[in-house]
Amino acid sequence: MAGQTCVVVGSQWGDEGKGKVVDYLASDFQAVVRYQGGNNAGHTVIINGEKSVLHLIPSGIFSPNCLNVIAHGVVIEPEALVKEIEMLQSKNLSITPRNLIISPAATVITSYAKLMDLARENTADAQKIGTTGKGIGPSYEDKVARRAIKISDLINANTLKQKLEFLWKERAFLLFQLYGVKNVPRVEEEMTRLIDLGKKLQPFIQEEIEMLDAVASKGKILFEGAQGVMLDIDFGTYPFVTSSNTTLGGVYTGSYVPGLKIDRVIGITKAYTTRVGEGAFPSELNNETGDLIQKNGQEFGATTGRKRRCGWLDLAQLKYAVKVSGLTELALTKVDVLMNLGSLAVVKAYKYHGQVYDRYRLGMNVAEIEPILESLPPLEGVIEESMKKNDLPVSVANYIARIEKELNIPVQFLAYGPQRHQTLKF
Ligand code: GDP
Ligand code: IMO
Ligand code: MG
Repeated sequence: MAGQTCVVVGSQWGDEGKGKVVDYLASDFQAVVRYQGGNNAGHTVIINGEKSVLHLIPSGIFSPNCLNVIAHGVVIEPEALVKEIEMLQSKNLSITPRNLIISPAATVITSYAKLMDLARENTADAQKIGTTGKGIGPSYEDKVARRAIKISDLINANTLKQKLEFLWKERAFLLFQLYGVKNVPRVEEEMTRLIDLGKKLQPFIQEEIEMLDAVASKGKILFEGAQGVMLDIDFGTYPFVTSSNTTLGGVYTGSYVPGLKIDRVIGITKAYTTRVGEGAFPSELNNETGDLIQKNGQEFGATTGRKRRCGWLDLAQLKYAVKVSGLTELALTKVDVLMNLGSLAVVKAYKYHGQVYDRYRLGMNVAEIEPILESLPPLEGVIEESMKKNDLPVSVANYIARIEKELNIPVQFLAYGPQRHQTLKF
């Protein structure tokens, strides 16, 4: 159907398998658009055993005839982007302005932003967020403070110099004086670096509005979210969140949406819960079961390599995600990790300050939530290619039915392995 738009969002704390699902869906779309976040994201795609981790480039890049757009809501570390383009080229993928465009209005992550992020995280008396250290927070600060460098400035030496001089004054003061950082690049050095990177990115810089209108007139657009609902700057478990809107609203401000119309919102949902970085989560398992899920699921951060903490699927958290991100359906991933694990549980409600809640509420301090668990039988059997919902092993079908009953939306996709083909569409 021409003009159809679909959004993929992470419905938990990130790393739900968005990259895998977007790559799986992309052959049916004419454009895939990243609209928020930056190279804090790590989206893994495995095709015929060949693994690629994408941080900035949309996961539609492996699909021929798919235009990939890095829209203006993204914060871009130009060096990381150039490296990512080269990584893909080394796999014999042709990366040209025909399959990749970068919005001139996207925000640049400067060396100063990255140094600020690292300095804050390494300061003993600061509140540690456990960031990815990529400069995401300080870059969004620059944007909101109206002093950010934009991608278009990389090819305009005059503006770039003026803006860098302005940025330098404040950032260098803080870095030297407050955080005691010794090596802060001077304006000239940063300018040379950015101009050089700008030259490499110039062919790809193009406004996304006309391009997306043209795609929408005859084809379908997929918006690829980064992070997850609970990491949203407004809806998430503040302050242990990222600095962008990861929920549906972020699409409208972080990209252009032809006709302002979105037809489907797919919540990518791991069959259990993981979190990386600081901040509690209600279903966390600080025991052998948690360790086993971590091991079976190979739960290591795709960007930082940190171990991900693991816990049961949290229906009270997901009910909130469905509501605040307008999910129309779910893609359930990594169900294979739970198979043959033994008895399972899900969180069905929260006890908070003596009251029972069926879902997470804004303002709840996650560390004070007492999860109410429901035991479920073990997941057993084998999932095979082309199975329909009715063919699934009974325990898996029941697990899905339990989720659908609680959330009132269908599970439309089931991933049972990391490879592209290990995905079922119902
Ligand atoms: P994203 O950030 O949401 O794209 O997810 P990540 O790529 O950071 O993390 C998901 C990890 O799980 C990656 O290593 C994927 O290769 C892997 N993965 C995705 N789907 C499945 C699945 O269904 N089963 C298994 N075993 N692994 C999966
Ligand atoms: P994808 O798109 C999981 C987490 C960090 C930290 C917090 C803030 O791969 O799902 P930041 O560097 O954004 O300022 O860090 O957010 N975080 C993620 N966790 N998946 C991600 O992205 C994440 N991006 C950021 O670990 O807790
Ligand atoms: Mg990831």
